[in-house]
Amino acid sequence: MLFFDPVLSVDSTISCGSCHNKLFAYSDRGSSLSTGINQQIGIRNSPPIFNVLWNKSFMWDGGVNHLEFMPLAPIENELEMGEKIKHVIAKLNRIPEYRNQFKQAYGIDSITDKYFLFAMAQFLGSLISANSAYDSVQLGLKPFSVTEQSGYDLYKQKCATCHAEPLFTDYSFRNNGLANTSDSGRMRITLLPEDRNKFKVPSLRNLDYSFPYMHDGRFKTLPEVLDHYSENIISSPTLDPELKPMYFSETEKEQLLAFLKTLNDPGFAGRLNP
Ligand code: HEC
Ligand code: HEC
Repeated sequence: MLFFDPVLSVDSTISCGSCHNKLFAYSDRGSSLSTGINQQIGIRNSPPIFNVLWNKSFMWDGGVNHLEFMPLAPIENELEMGEKIKHVIAKLNRIPEYRNQFKQAYGIDSITDKYFLFAMAQFLGSLISANSAYDSVQLGLKPFSVTEQSGYDLYKQKCATCHAEPLFTDYSFRNNGLANTSDSGRMRITLLPEDRNKFKVPSLRNLDYSFPYMHDGRFKTLPEVLDHYSENIISSPTLDPELKPMYFSETEKEQLLAFLKTLNDPGFAGRLNP
């Protein structure tokens, strides 16, 4: 209820769900940058939300380090929800239904920021995506097709050091060689020059739903992403030492795309017919 309630924003126009839509694996609905209160455009692509119980940090630059603090960032961000947590709590306490719900869940008579954050963390933690075709293969329920298996082999050679199984990220911060990145990334948090343009490695699950891609949503499609890794990696002092242009053939690109498709979890994204 809280996640989808615009009461969390200062003018009751924006909910968490405005930028994190279930049908898009809780990412934005295809926008590169999200729109917050007063039609303001944010600075980064809204990532999908799933399997966050395993995150070591949150945000593209790791600026938040605990799930229970996560909601404070968007609520108090001027471009996103423009509110103050104290005021949100005061508003919630004026809504009898929320008071009842918190009473039932936690046995408390008045809602506090601590229990609000507990409730949000419980919901965010419940967003688990583990029912893709890839997962069925791992469970021995079905095999990969020949093309998918070739793509999986390529993935293991070229992608798995950073996008590690089974969550398809190792949660490290890396520079994957994007051109013209004005956002300093991890360096915004650590202030260390060696962290310039490094971003948290995102998962490769549910990519069909979470387009566009990268911290600024610069690539609209997966073929564009593969062209980047194939030919367009830009060298710079912080470029990851593992990365060199990979020069995939058209067949290899098709194999990789076929494998990446096996990581979609249509049930998680509410895309299965009832
Ligand atoms: C206006 C759009 C917008 C709203 C509203 C919004 N978010 Fe986000 N969310 C983003 C963007 C953009 C990022 C990435 C920010 C960054 O990396 O600097 C993000 C990041 C996150 C992440 C980190 C995911 C990860 O894997 O690192 C979580 C979790 C999250 N938001 C939850 C929430 C919750 C909970 C709310 C409501 C309290 C919320 N968001 C409201 C746009 C939004
Ligand atoms: C050296 C580490 C590294 C390797 C190897 C690597 N990636 Fe990435 N990948 C990253 C980082 C870091 C990002 C985020 C960069 C950003 O947003 O600025 C990323 C982003 C992506 C995204 C965008 C996901 C999203 O949610 O926006 C896709 C898709 C992707 N990589 C696919 C691949 C594929 C396919 C391979 C192998 C061909 C690969 N990557 C190899 C580090 C790596």
